[in-house]
Amino acid sequence: MTRAEALRAAVRRLKAAGVGEASEDARRLLGHAAGLSPAALIAAMPAPQPSEEAAAFQALIERRAAREPLSHILGRVAFWTLDLAVTPDVLTPRADTETLVETALAGIADRTAPLRILDIGTGSGAIALALLSELPAARAVATDLSDAALRIARGNAEACGLAQRFQTAKTRWADGVDGPFDRVISNPPYIASAVIETLEPEVKDYEPRLALDGGSDGLAPYAHLMAEAQRLLAPGGAALFEIGYDQGEAVTQLAQALGAATRLVHDLAGRDRVVVAEFGEAGPA
Ligand SMILES: C[S@@+](CC[C@H](N)C(=O)[O-])C[C@H]1O[C@@H](n2cnc3c(N)ncnc32)[C@H](O)[C@@H]1O
Repeated sequence: MTRAEALRAAVRRLKAAGVGEASEDARRLLGHAAGLSPAALIAAMPAPQPSEEAAAFQALIERRAAREPLSHILGRVAFWTLDLAVTPDVLTPRADTETLVETALAGIADRTAPLRILDIGTGSGAIALALLSELPAARAVATDLSDAALRIARGNAEACGLAQRFQTAKTRWADGVDGPFDRVISNPPYIASAVIETLEPEVKDYEPRLALDGGSDGLAPYAHLMAEAQRLLAPGGAALFEIGYDQGEAVTQLAQALGAATRLVHDLAGRDRVVVAEFGEAGPA
């Protein structure tokens, strides 16, 4: 069988299993099994597939057909400009979260300034590391309750050459962390507990509950995080929180109740995605 034929069969298998991005995923897994770059894979498509590669490809396709996330099978995901390691111990960073990174960067006038950043619930380290990669003099403190997540985050910091400016703290939210920080950022768990069971198998069966479950209404972490941002921000600093598409009003109200000036930012699909809050005199960044 040629690689092209094997790919077609794999796409059919993944579609039958209900995988949304069947063609893209099958192609990525074929490249992984063959050890070929996307460009090299195109050239190698008409060639017969060696039997060892065929067996490896088949095994990968069966894992994906069981709805294991592509990122877990590959052990990696692209986020911002970074290539990050991910495991079942961390949330796979989402494209939506790049809106948070983009918003944070857009609010920084001088990217060479020695900014102090706090990333609460860092998971793979995605947000803090993306920011450090763009802010050469910034330093980040990244917290998580999960030891395993913090190990992944530190590994990613090393691999990205950012470890010198990246410090982790195992703690509940920002307990025991001292400021001040110029930016307090978090993508906390914000899915309502009852909704989790309705999500795709890739999420509900494979991603850590600690990274997903935001309590009965999905809003449980925000009141505490907002108060922590107020405690920890330097004058002129800003807090940025990722939110669910229907949480803009509620999270904005929490910030305003503490006297913050707020701004709501949409993601590429036009849905509410980020709340920016400033607790000083000036308007939000
Ligand atoms: C939605 S995930 C976000 C991960 C990462 N920041 C990202 O955007 O991809 C939320 C993270 O918060 C962590 N977390 C959940 N509850 C926490 C708590 N009470 N204190 C600290 N971290 C917590 C989870 O372990 C998880 O890594």
